[in-house]
Amino acid sequence: MAKRLFVKTYGCQMNVYDSARMADVLAPLGYASADGPEDADMVILNTCHIREKAAEKVFSELGRLKKLQAAKAQAGGRMVLAVAGCVAQAEGEEILRRAPFVDIVLGPQTYHRLPEMVAQAARAGGAVLDTEFPAEPKFDFLPEARAEGSSAFLSVQEGCDKFCTFCVVPYTRGAEYSRPASAVLAEARALAAQGVREITLLGQNVNGWRSDDGWSLGRLLRALAEVEGLERLRYTTSHPRDMDDDLIAAHADLPQLMPFLHLPLQSGSDRILAAMNRGHDRDVYLRLAERLKTARPDLALSSDFITGFPGETDADFAETLDIVRRVGFVQTYSFKYSPRPGTPAALMPNQVPEKVKEERLAELQALLLAQTEDFNRACVGREMRVLLDRPGRHAGQLVGRSPYMQPVHVKAAAHLIGSVVNLRITALHPNSLEAVPT
Ligand code: 5AD
Ligand code: SF4
Repeated sequence: MAKRLFVKTYGCQMNVYDSARMADVLAPLGYASADGPEDADMVILNTCHIREKAAEKVFSELGRLKKLQAAKAQAGGRMVLAVAGCVAQAEGEEILRRAPFVDIVLGPQTYHRLPEMVAQAARAGGAVLDTEFPAEPKFDFLPEARAEGSSAFLSVQEGCDKFCTFCVVPYTRGAEYSRPASAVLAEARALAAQGVREITLLGQNVNGWRSDDGWSLGRLLRALAEVEGLERLRYTTSHPRDMDDDLIAAHADLPQLMPFLHLPLQSGSDRILAAMNRGHDRDVYLRLAERLKTARPDLALSSDFITGFPGETDADFAETLDIVRRVGFVQTYSFKYSPRPGTPAALMPNQVPEKVKEERLAELQALLLAQTEDFNRACVGREMRVLLDRPGRHAGQLVGRSPYMQPVHVKAAAHLIGSVVNLRITALHPNSLEAVPT
């Protein structure tokens, strides 16, 4: 009988990609996917360490799984429990100490070795810990990606050398690594052949991608635009420092490249940007936003912000509100600063009181929400190309994504799933747009 695997994913899109690839790695061992941990013979928690709250969730989830695992053992079965991802990388030993019932702890760079770890866990009966940064890139050992649906992620770059002073990523994901262009193109062709119409290139610093022979991301996007069947391209997450001329030009030249870019800013204060070690000031960002919108006038920006970074004053925060008003963002993620063990900012003096972080976050989020709502409202009446990718909740209805990632509902025939169609937006709902064919 087939064994069942349940993977629970926390955090970023890179983790979503990694979870899918872990399932690909385990498929040849006979693991099919389970609907929930209750029916699973193996559960993987793919974890996120970016903020304290994200990391804490893992231990409470492990508490729940422990009970399921014990019930399964009592019934004469076994549930293999694995913790993967960035909490595993950063706190592997701690996990095994606090949760000795965990069978496997593995980092983001070693999951190609999962079959070996599963065998080892079965043999030894003890826990297996593998949080190395191996010399061999895992990508060389992964089976071909299996596509589900018409939109797919494709990891092209991993790791980070930027060392923003608040961030754990350089420690959990390691140094910047770019996959070769040939491997990326081969994976893209394989996905397109399976019916994928839209690919989102992933990387912690995706626009820092470089090939051995000097291609940058703009060049890679131009090559991907030639892949038969691919109608839409996206890439995330970018760093303002790595937005080079060719990449900006690609936004002007490639109709496949969606006019929507996630470009984290974090703060609008030059003093705080310097303390964060972001490597750019507000002026650089403002000019970048302008150049991007000149290259592609319908381009909209998305961003990340942190409130209450150590030393942030009311005046610094006012600069953040000011730059948000100037640039205008259509979608954003904003967070209170969370001190992370091992990062320089955690040790900085002038930590901002929790209450101040919260008040600033609420004020910033009110402004950001108003901008998102304004943008969504302005979409009503517009024509948009929408990639229809699944059936809707009601009969005869399909759901797709606009160029700006907004969910769009439309009455349309099921055979249109997987195609990009022209729609006119007719109404705005709390979390989606409604449209009719043009
Ligand atoms: N505290 C709060 N937010 C953080 N981020 C990264 N590290 C921290 C931290 N220590 C946010 C940044 C980043 C996003 C993925 O998470 O805004 O862009
Ligand atoms: Fe973290 Fe900064 Fe690297 Fe982004 S660029 S992953 S925020 S260190």
